[in-house]
Amino acid sequence: MARIVITNRIPTEGVELLKAEHDVWMWDEEETISREECLRRIAGADAVLTLLTEKVDDEFLDAAGEQLKVVANVAVGFNNIDVAACDARSIVATNTPKVLTETTADTAFGLMLMVTRRFGEGERIIRSQTPWQWGMFYLLGTGLQGKTLGIVGAGQIGVAMARRAKAFGMNVVYCDAYEMDPQVAAELGAQRLETDELLASADVVSLHCPLIPAGQEGSTYHLIDADALARMKPTAFVVNSARGPIIDEEALVEALRAGQIAGAGLDVFENEPTVHPGLLELDNVVLLPHLGSATVETRTAMAELAANNALALLRGEEAITPVTQARRIRG
Ligand code: DGY
Repeated sequence: MARIVITNRIPTEGVELLKAEHDVWMWDEEETISREECLRRIAGADAVLTLLTEKVDDEFLDAAGEQLKVVANVAVGFNNIDVAACDARSIVATNTPKVLTETTADTAFGLMLMVTRRFGEGERIIRSQTPWQWGMFYLLGTGLQGKTLGIVGAGQIGVAMARRAKAFGMNVVYCDAYEMDPQVAAELGAQRLETDELLASADVVSLHCPLIPAGQEGSTYHLIDADALARMKPTAFVVNSARGPIIDEEALVEALRAGQIAGAGLDVFENEPTVHPGLLELDNVVLLPHLGSATVETRTAMAELAANNALALLRGEEAITPVTQARRIRG
């Protein structure tokens, strides 16, 4: 029987799968485990299930010990894991792609609708009991039909977002290190552009690339910086449901204040859970607390996939969704 540590609460379905075969300990509190407690608890674990709030680095791996075989992240994004450090110790890192694709695309699409149609502003007006009246010119938004959606990162979530946009009568352009499957691109009428061309032509720029740290090949850290924002149309919006640090938040606040772009819909932030105070003051911004994959069904599927990854590796089988070199770049 192996020892498995789950560093924060996950749905029971995933925990039960693990318990059927192994000895399992899970941090079962509402608040996130402290670093100190986490390092103490993972000592001697053969497998660890982590959330995006845990930094899996040399310190973490040292604390776990040499017997550790697998770090199963319960998230598709794995920027919290130092994969090179895992590789160096022959520890397999896994993530949870596919099961959260549609849910996350729904979130991105919801943000796009909220910000372009000013639904967030409308909700705030009613809740704050500000007087209002229907009017021909009251709180007019921007329609999406016939507009261009620029997808940055055409992996599974980017394509799912593009499908939604197509159904809404939008044109789709994308930029990615990889070409979209030609059949899918043809179905969506999606045209591949260079990033700068996409920024200059899109009415909505939606981010779906992984966060790759500064200094690494294909880095996406601050991909949307002051220069990128300056290339966008003053009528354009940016939507981020990927990772906060892909946008330079300080530059975004400046661009929004200066009217350089029309608005932003954000589910993720540079220093979560802190939100840049400048964003809170702006009406043309919609802010969500990292809800991308937050449905009962999806979180259950994520927990089950992470558990099955750990179980497979502990049985000496291949991982179902290991973090591979291609996916490190593509997401
Ligand atoms: C992920 O999976 O990477 C999301 O950000 C959390 O579900």
